Amino acid sequence: MVGNYFWNMKKIKILFTLILTASFVTVFQSCDSKREPGKTYMPDMAYSRAYQAYAPNDLQTEGINYVQYPVEGTIRRGDLLPYTLPNDSAGYKMSADIEDPLPPLDSTQMAEAQRLFNINCAICHGPKLDAQGPLATGGKIGGIANLTLRQYVEMPVGTMFHSITYGKNNMGSYASQLTREQRWMVIQYVKSQQLQLGAAVDSTKSADSGSAMTKDSSMAKK
Ligand code: HEC
Repeated sequence: MVGNYFWNMKKIKILFTLILTASFVTVFQSCDSKREPGKTYMPDMAYSRAYQAYAPNDLQTEGINYVQYPVEGTIRRGDLLPYTLPNDSAGYKMSADIEDPLPPLDSTQMAEAQRLFNINCAICHGPKLDAQGPLATGGKIGGIANLTLRQYVEMPVGTMFHSITYGKNNMGSYASQLTREQRWMVIQYVKSQQLQLGAAVDSTKSADSGSAMTKDSSMAKK
């Protein structure tokens, strides 16, 4: 029994030494890793063969049919339908019949619409829509429409959308800065502000607004 016990101790000691040596070897070997890359066991996982969407690739030459760009005529999920009226006088006329596809904005959405207007439009049209933005008062851009005037208060939303989408004279196109939905949101904001700001000017001083209108449109011809 006793002999057996000592033999066991010896066996444990040998085993312990072996384990210690093995772990030392492993630790020092891994210190070497700076000079040599470790072994790659699953290269397919380490080095992905995935392709970036819309980025150039050579799949076609390998006979793999991969649709690189969105199919023509398709739209993003949840996106509004494209605006199809042409950028000419006939398109401008027809735009009057285009209706706002969005439901009336709630207060949060209206706050966002105001933010978009102040960023993109107020620089010319002014935060109060009266063409007193810094680019107007600074004289950098002429003929800026005073959106509180009757002709703009009465302007159909579709026409506004048309002009914002394609641009008009000194106003550039907003098609790349604002999504279709954002453009309609901004128009709802403009209309709500026109109701609040323009109504008084419009109904009580129709003669004044008439003369201002002439001034505005003559400026626009410059
Ligand atoms: C660089 C200055 C500038 C900015 C920025 C600008 N506009 Fe204009 N906007 C103009 C000028 C100038 C006109 C007058 C165009 C004309 O009739 O000659 C105009 C006209 C308009 C009209 C009348 C369009 C029509 O058919 O007569 C609307 C509506 C309008 N702007 C809305 C906006 C909105 C909304 C934004 C922001 C998304 C915006 N504008 C940004 C300069 C600007």
